Amino acid sequence: MEIGARAVIFGNVVGVDAPHGAVVTDAGRIVWVGARADVPPDYSAWPQHDMQGRLITPAFIDCHTHIIHGGHRAREFEMRLQGASYEAVARAGGGIVSTVTATRAADEDALVAQALPRLDALLAEGVSCVEVKSGYGLDVETELRMLRAARRLGRERTVRVRTSFLGAHAVPAEFAGRADAYIDEVCIPALRAAHAEGLVDAVDGFLEGIGFDNNQIARVFDVACALGLPVKLHAEQLSHMGGCALATKYGALSADHVEYATDADAALLAASGTVAVLLPGAFYTIRETQMPPIAAFRAHGVPMALATDCNPGSSPLTSLLLAMNMGCTLFRLTPDEALRGLTEHAARALGLKDTGRIAVGLRADLAIWNVETPAELAYRIGFNPLHQRVFGGLT
Ligand code: NIG
Ligand code: FE
Repeated sequence: MEIGARAVIFGNVVGVDAPHGAVVTDAGRIVWVGARADVPPDYSAWPQHDMQGRLITPAFIDCHTHIIHGGHRAREFEMRLQGASYEAVARAGGGIVSTVTATRAADEDALVAQALPRLDALLAEGVSCVEVKSGYGLDVETELRMLRAARRLGRERTVRVRTSFLGAHAVPAEFAGRADAYIDEVCIPALRAAHAEGLVDAVDGFLEGIGFDNNQIARVFDVACALGLPVKLHAEQLSHMGGCALATKYGALSADHVEYATDADAALLAASGTVAVLLPGAFYTIRETQMPPIAAFRAHGVPMALATDCNPGSSPLTSLLLAMNMGCTLFRLTPDEALRGLTEHAARALGLKDTGRIAVGLRADLAIWNVETPAELAYRIGFNPLHQRVFGGLT
C-alpha cells in the first residue's frame, strides 16, 4: 500500500528502544515516534502500514558527489591498472582536467541526461538528498551550467539537491602555472555569479599539491564568508597540507577524505563541530593505503559521515550501500557508526537540521528495508534490500 499524507508506520525503527516501533507522519513531517504499544489513540483512525518487523531508518543522504560530469575515465582506470598513480595521471594532463574537456562540450540537457541514471541508482537504495558539486567547468559559463544542471536534478526526481561550488578543484590547462590568476579571474567571479543566480548552497575546494594551496583556498573562502555561504574542503586526501586547520578556521561544515589527517586535526575538527566525511570509494579506487585516523576521530568525538564521492576518476561509485560496506570493511566503522554516517552526520555535513534522524518535527524521509539490523544492511556486497523509500512523507 502506498504511504500517503497521513500514516502510522510500524516496524523496527532505528533509535526506538523497543523491538516493535512506530513512526507517525503528517503532511511530510514526523509527528510521533516511539514504541508500538505507546502510539496515542488519536492516530488509530489514520492509515496503518505494518512493515512486519522491517528495519526503518532515516533515508540516506549522499553528502559528497560530483555526479554532474561529462564522459568517463575508463582509459585512466586501465592506466592505473598498469601501475600509474592517480597523481601521476593528473600531472600528465589526465585526471580532473580530462573530465573538464568532456564537461565543457556537454550542454545542460546532456549533463542532466548523463547524471540521471547515476542519480536513479542512488535513489533505488533509499536516498532522499544528494549533494552535487561543480568543479569540472573551471570557466564561468560551465561552472554555472553544472550548477543549473544540478538544480534540475531536484526537479526531475523526488530528491533534495544541495549544491557546492567547487571552482577551486583544479587549474585548467589555459591557466597552467597561473593558479593565482585562475582564482582571481575565473573562480571568484564564477562564485559571485553563481551565488547571484541562487545556485550555491556551500563552497568547496581541493587543497592539494595537484589542487590549490592554503592561500588560494583562503581567498575563495573569504568570498564565501562575505556572501554568507558555509564552506567545506577536500582536505588531507593525498598528503597532509593543513586542510583541517584551514577548514576549521572558517567553521567548515565538513572536511572530506582526511586520510592524512592527524590527531591534532581530529581535535580541531571536534572543537569546531566539523564533520569528517569519509570516502571509502576513492580510497579503494586509487588503492590508497593511508587509513583515515578513525580512532582519533572517535576519541575526540568527531562526527563521521560516509559518502560515495561519485565522480568519473577517483570514485565511480553510485551505491551508498557499498560505501557503507566499505566504511565498515576498510575503515572498521561499526554498522551503527556507518548508518549514522549516511544519515545524521551526512545531514550535518550539509548543514541540514530538518532531516537525517527519525524525530518529531523532522521531514518524513525514511528508508524501509527487508532486513532486521544495521549490520545486515552493511555486510552484504552488491545486494539491495530496499523495500520502500519515503520522501517527504510519500512513497
Ligand atoms: O573527491 N579530490 C578531488 N576531487 C575528486 C576527484 C575528482 C576526479 O578525479 O575527477 C575527489 O576524489
Ligand atoms: Fe570529491
